[in-house]
Amino acid sequence: MSLKKLCTALKGKKKLVMLTAYDAQIARILSGTDLDLILVGDTLGVVFQGYKTTHGVTMADMLYHTKAVVRGAGLKPVIGDMPINSYTTEREAVRNAGLFLEAGAKAVKIEGNKPHIIKALNHEGIEVMGHVGLLPQTAQRYRVQGKTDDDAKRILYDALELAKSDIFALVLECIPESLAKKITESVTIPTIGIGAGPYCDGQVLVINDMLGMDEEYMPKFVKHYAELTQTISSAARQFIEDVRMGKFPDSSHTYH
Ligand code: KIV
Repeated sequence: MSLKKLCTALKGKKKLVMLTAYDAQIARILSGTDLDLILVGDTLGVVFQGYKTTHGVTMADMLYHTKAVVRGAGLKPVIGDMPINSYTTEREAVRNAGLFLEAGAKAVKIEGNKPHIIKALNHEGIEVMGHVGLLPQTAQRYRVQGKTDDDAKRILYDALELAKSDIFALVLECIPESLAKKITESVTIPTIGIGAGPYCDGQVLVINDMLGMDEEYMPKFVKHYAELTQTISSAARQFIEDVRMGKFPDSSHTYH
């Protein structure tokens, strides 16, 4: 079944849930859950590669991680996030999206209101997820969007235009809940929020954020469902102590 059919059928009936993943082990764990979609986000530039923004992420980076995620994801649909400068023209977009599909992704996500790009991708049978609000690839500053009337109108306009093109879902990033509600009520495809409040048709979080991998990065919209910084740090301390005290390896971890 196409993602468009699947996602549209869920609108208003069941909340769509998406998480990012960047490697095969996490994808394998997620494949054993009831998650709907896995996004190989270009946030990998920040959480995996250690850059401050997603601006340095390349197609080669994205394909490497997409292939890893696909190996672990089983039957879960994997969406490839097209990085900055990979969909400037229709031709480039089609070529690069084709590479995502060859890597095993089911669809791609692009940022911003670019109906001509979506049309070109759809023409090649490639399904597209849209993304409005905060657009990290082009934003000057990472902050809530759509707070003034003009900005809210522009985001609503972009969302309606995108909904007219054949996208299968729309990410709403960092906008006030009232604007997210208005968009959600105005479009037939599901909206998937991140920092966009409870009225979206679904929610997405960056997996490292929701696992508590960075204690210093705690924007309002992130909730920690685990505290892996502490878990990893205390496991590493215990390992160091055991090695130094001669407690590891013991007989049960040694070949005789
Ligand atoms: O790159 C990413 O992880 C994303 C999500 C935040 C939606 O675009």
